[in-house]
Amino acid sequence: ANKFVIIGGGSTQSPSILEVLRQRSADLDMNQLVLYDIDEERVSLLGQYTKMYYKETGSPVHVSYTTNLEEALQDANFLFMQIRPGLNKQRAIDEKICIRNGVIGQETCGLGGFSFAMRVIPDIIAIIKKVKQICPDAWILNYTNPEAILSEAIYREFPEAKVICICDMPISIEGAIAQYFHKDLKDITFKYFGMNHFGWWTSMIDENGQDLLPQLREDVQSGKIDTLAQWNDETLDDQYWIDTYKRMITIFKRFPEYFPNCYLQYYLMPDVMMAESDVNFTRGDWVMQGREKRIFTECRRVLKAGTAKGSSLNSGVHGNYIVDIANAIIHNTRERFTVNQKNNGAISNFDPDAVVEVPAYIGSMGAETISIGKIPTFHKGLMELQKAYEKRTVDAALSGSYQVALEAVVLNKTIPDYHVGKKVLDELYEANKQYWPEL
Ligand code: G6P
Ligand code: MN
Repeated sequence: ANKFVIIGGGSTQSPSILEVLRQRSADLDMNQLVLYDIDEERVSLLGQYTKMYYKETGSPVHVSYTTNLEEALQDANFLFMQIRPGLNKQRAIDEKICIRNGVIGQETCGLGGFSFAMRVIPDIIAIIKKVKQICPDAWILNYTNPEAILSEAIYREFPEAKVICICDMPISIEGAIAQYFHKDLKDITFKYFGMNHFGWWTSMIDENGQDLLPQLREDVQSGKIDTLAQWNDETLDDQYWIDTYKRMITIFKRFPEYFPNCYLQYYLMPDVMMAESDVNFTRGDWVMQGREKRIFTECRRVLKAGTAKGSSLNSGVHGNYIVDIANAIIHNTRERFTVNQKNNGAISNFDPDAVVEVPAYIGSMGAETISIGKIPTFHKGLMELQKAYEKRTVDAALSGSYQVALEAVVLNKTIPDYHVGKKVLDELYEANKQYWPEL
């Protein structure tokens, strides 16, 4: 039997995961589920809700919640990690500092990502150290952002750890592509390379062995489609994602060799992203006033009513993806997923020690990446710069060196010059004193 623990169980991303776990608990041989968080209020709201919901739907799984990490980790088999030190409040503060200075503040790209990395790296390292002591055989599946930088830190500090760093973005985009071609996602074999939130698809082979990428390219070049938004049913009520799925096609039109991950919009269309950002209402504000409010209000309503009947935990790609990977490990299915792992030759002309996002076959031994081969100069150039920034950010978080932090900041493609970089760095540091390592 398996004990699953959600580290950061008070997250608004939890409901989707909790619902998929409940539906598939028999397959996963899950008999115990623990929500762990440092935020007592949030974890108790989501924890009590989940207990009630599981019980009323007849689930045999024992659900509990705690703010005690040691207790949560005891005898654990799977740890789903999704933490956010400083919550979305700090995310919005970072976004605003960046936007006011005329640069991208997104939580994974630009200096919003830098700041989030400085907050999260020390905590993640402390948690994994505990895991090594208390439940060294447990698998850690990490969703925590900024995944690119964080995975670089994790595999550097714990090269032998049983960790798979993942993101739901590649599979979400693949789902939209499959729907566009009226195909079953499972019937298409995707080849992708890059880093997290920074990569490209080189091929998408259908069940007949035909590559769909040339057709997609033609449909974009001819103007037949200018967005993939309507083929992505999950985010159609969210203008940010509608716009993002459109900008992704714009980028593909401008750079038609490979199909881009949508997060490249922050690096290849920063002018548009800046023009569209609103310092008074950022994505962090949107999440706090939207998703967070909705979920915790619903928890409170259900707990007051004393029943979860008529309520539901929503599920979707986010929950399915991480559970699919756990399932692949448990049943040694050797299915193919796109994950973040040490390059180790997968991209032959890229640093073997760097963490990259590539397809891998996942089974009980973990992830075995596939060979990508040589990548073109354009993509490699962008990746080299980004990787240098990521590595220097990890160095800064681990060393607490101001000079190294400054180097990281100046390496980021969204930073125009030293003066802007230093000013934003100093303002971010001031606003994050409580969370960053001392510089
Ligand atoms: C996608 C990305 C995640 C990111 C999320 C942001 O799922 O892959 O890395 O956390 O979007 O969602 P939010 O609604 O918080 O902006
Ligand atoms: Mn992601």
